[in-house]
Amino acid sequence: MSEQNSYKIDEIATNVDAEIKRLKAQVELFWDKELKHLLEFGLSDGMTIVELGCGPGFVVEKILNRFPNSEVTALEIEPMLVKYSRNYLLKKQFKRFKIIEGSIMNTGMEENFYDIAITRLVLEHLPDPLSAVLEVLRIVKPGGKAIFVDNDFEMHIMTYPHTPALRILYDAYCNARFSEGGNPKIGRELPRVLKQAGFTNIDFEVISAHSEIIGDEMFFKSEGIGIPYKLFRSGFLSSKELANISVEWRNMIKNDNHSIVRQLYMAVGSKKI
Ligand SMILES: C[S@@+](CC[C@H](N)C(=O)[O-])C[C@H]1O[C@@H](n2cnc3c(N)ncnc32)[C@H](O)[C@@H]1O
Repeated sequence: MSEQNSYKIDEIATNVDAEIKRLKAQVELFWDKELKHLLEFGLSDGMTIVELGCGPGFVVEKILNRFPNSEVTALEIEPMLVKYSRNYLLKKQFKRFKIIEGSIMNTGMEENFYDIAITRLVLEHLPDPLSAVLEVLRIVKPGGKAIFVDNDFEMHIMTYPHTPALRILYDAYCNARFSEGGNPKIGRELPRVLKQAGFTNIDFEVISAHSEIIGDEMFFKSEGIGIPYKLFRSGFLSSKELANISVEWRNMIKNDNHSIVRQLYMAVGSKKI
């Protein structure tokens, strides 16, 4: 089974520190909306929680803060991020967590163990998401739930005034991720993948963040130039296209009535008792 993925922190953008900051901003951008749905989907305090593909640990931090009686186990494939997330959470004085190095494809975790599993922005980077979902099903308790959160780059950032160059950027991003075996348009497929894996009681929501509600700054931090510049460097965007994206974005921001909106896709399923 392939364990390749199309997200490698030291390759996806030009600078690892900036990419970690971008991931943090991307958690902040959606957390209030995501939490609402996590609660609605069945997450509650005291549950045994696992996060697959935890990255720098910012989602684990949010969960530990919000659910003071829960224990969180987090799995991450990239050794540098295993170390980073562990140190980050220890510095914040958390004790109720464990970070394990490993792959979602074959976690080595106990069967039927967790009340709830969260997999955020990971399936879209895997060549075989169904096998990953089957592994998540295996480690969740009967009656337990699994929540998957992903992008679908058909509908990513939209703006007023319209920024046509963003379509060129997202097409370039999709071409890059597809070429590495990922699926940046998996958002729409989540309910089907969960059903195919054997989950029941599947539900699905598209959640959104809007600049009028949370401000522009969160969007600036969660987007950044790192990924577009890397797409240029790897030949997926021309210098003219990159320059045009930047010009159109700046012009959009200058408009006093501008709006920025972005979506994420959330699906939940239960494991049969
Ligand atoms: C976009 S980041 C998301 C991190 C975190 N879940 C969040 O929402 O902030 C994707 C993470 O998945 C990890 N990852 C990719 N493939 C993986 C695999 N097969 N098993 C475990 N983690 C994986 C990457 O190393 C990266 O840390």
